[in-house]
Amino acid sequence: MNAEPQTVLDYRGDHTIFLVYNFKKDQEVGAVFQRICALVINLNNSGETRFPDSGAICVMGIGFDAWLRLGLPEPLPKELQNFTPIVGGKHVAVATRGDLHFHIKGSSSSICYDMAATLAQILDPVAVPVEEIHGFRYWDGRSILGFVDGTENPQGEKRAFFGLIGDDDPGYRGGSYLFVQKYIHDLKAFRALPVEEQEKVFGRSKENDVEMTDEQKPSNSHIALTNVGDDLKIIRDNLPFGNMSTNEMGTYFIAYMSTFSTVKKMLDNMFIGVPEGNYDRLLDFSSPKTGTLFFVPSATFLKNIAS
Ligand code: HEM
Repeated sequence: MNAEPQTVLDYRGDHTIFLVYNFKKDQEVGAVFQRICALVINLNNSGETRFPDSGAICVMGIGFDAWLRLGLPEPLPKELQNFTPIVGGKHVAVATRGDLHFHIKGSSSSICYDMAATLAQILDPVAVPVEEIHGFRYWDGRSILGFVDGTENPQGEKRAFFGLIGDDDPGYRGGSYLFVQKYIHDLKAFRALPVEEQEKVFGRSKENDVEMTDEQKPSNSHIALTNVGDDLKIIRDNLPFGNMSTNEMGTYFIAYMSTFSTVKKMLDNMFIGVPEGNYDRLLDFSSPKTGTLFFVPSATFLKNIAS
């Protein structure tokens, strides 16, 4: 049977709210979760009906511990587990707890806000928000470091191929793995580099977003280490965020994929390095403060729980 996916492949929107909730201890959470499943379906339908061209969407992911606590089906999605830290010689990909993840995005900040507020109201008795990031599209799709972010993402039909589970795990067809990390950048140090050095960090030109040739591209550049082959891709939807009062400027890294092992390989390359020690130079200017794996079941799965 074909399962209808959540809107994980959608391009929509310049405004995004990322929310992570953790369930409170000793609370019965099943009834609220059932209500949330119905609400996610409702919010997406409503966004589509009210604003067909610009609408807003909401994608929900569920963490490993939450899956067990909610008594969701077993066997679990094949690669759903708690993310464990990746410890490199200099940098560490930390692991943090997350029970539910909401990725809300749209063209209008009003509808995104309303969606988040509606979810928060229902979740409030049984869960606490541990992360709330308001991401924005920065100029022509640039990260706050000034480089265009997203260029080599799969396009067209390839998005479903790399983003959604297929026959490999038939019980979870139409679902995706979701991996997120909140990075804080040392913008002062990055901006102190001459533009040619900044370009070597990424392996692309800054102004025109053109990839360096293999001869030019340093082996510790971000794209040299994250390009793990044409048959191993992920759907990235990163956005920058910034807060002047706390001086926290960052990137919310978010990716959907049909197999977690693909992003794990990229993370190993970035943090441990290839060969070991030749780690991603981007990490000298970017520290992950969170790191969590979620599973995004299909919309059909959510509807079955809701009904
Ligand atoms: C490429 C930014 C973290 C995976 C890129 C590019 C930029 C960028 C500017 C080049 C343009 C593009 O193709 O999108 C960032 C920033 C990050 C970050 C600011 C956070 C500090 C990560 C992480 C992963 C990752 C954690 C995976 C674990 C990739 C991949 C590519 C890419 C797969 C495309 C490589 C290629 O095939 O050319 N990133 N990235 N990025 N990034 Fe990241």
